Amino acid sequence: MNIVEKFKHWKRKQRWNRQYKKGRWENLKSDKESGRYKTIVEYSERYGNKNPDILDLGSGEGVLLDYFNSDLISSFDGMDFSSVSIKKANKANRAKGTFTCEDLHDFKPKTNYDIIVLNEAFYYIHETKKQEVIDTLKAHLKTNGIIIVSIYREGLGCWEYFKNHDFEELDFTTVTTHEEKTYWKIGAYKLT
Ligand SMILES: C[S@@+](CC[C@H](N)C(=O)[O-])C[C@H]1O[C@@H](n2cnc3c(N)ncnc32)[C@H](O)[C@@H]1O
Repeated sequence: MNIVEKFKHWKRKQRWNRQYKKGRWENLKSDKESGRYKTIVEYSERYGNKNPDILDLGSGEGVLLDYFNSDLISSFDGMDFSSVSIKKANKANRAKGTFTCEDLHDFKPKTNYDIIVLNEAFYYIHETKKQEVIDTLKAHLKTNGIIIVSIYREGLGCWEYFKNHDFEELDFTTVTTHEEKTYWKIGAYKLT
């Protein structure tokens, strides 16, 4: 990224912080959104290792962790570049949850994971960084580890990073709502 793009990226981060402060993302906890979180949990249980260590990238306040049965997971690490969302996530003090403020663009996980989740986060990664981020994630998957990706609507310019010879698609679905334009596509992938 050049200096202008870096500045725009910094501005975006400030915007996320302002929005989290104002409660703009409280809607993620609503019933309308629940289908996509439940599908991620279903895929985790169906295709992931038992008692998984989970990494949630762009976790925000950590809503996804509320959908897991904490007795059935070993750990849940969330990260997000919005310090406000991470403060909220840690304040909720959920069992097995650890949340840290990091930027996906230069994030290097400190350990390996059974399940890595990109839940409404992949499209925020700068185009020049997307493949680098995926390569980092691939290097931090445990044996039989999986990546689960959820993308709002069509996800143009995103799915080709997963639908290729590097990955085997284990499952793929569209989660709909009563609103025609509100839907998510969700895929589960393992390394080939
Ligand atoms: C639509 S929210 C989704 C939050 C959460 N995954 C969920 O579904 O409940 C997108 C999140 O991505 C985060 N994000 C955007 N760009 C990021 C980056 N470069 N590094 C880390 N987090 C980022 C935002 O701060 C925000 O919390």
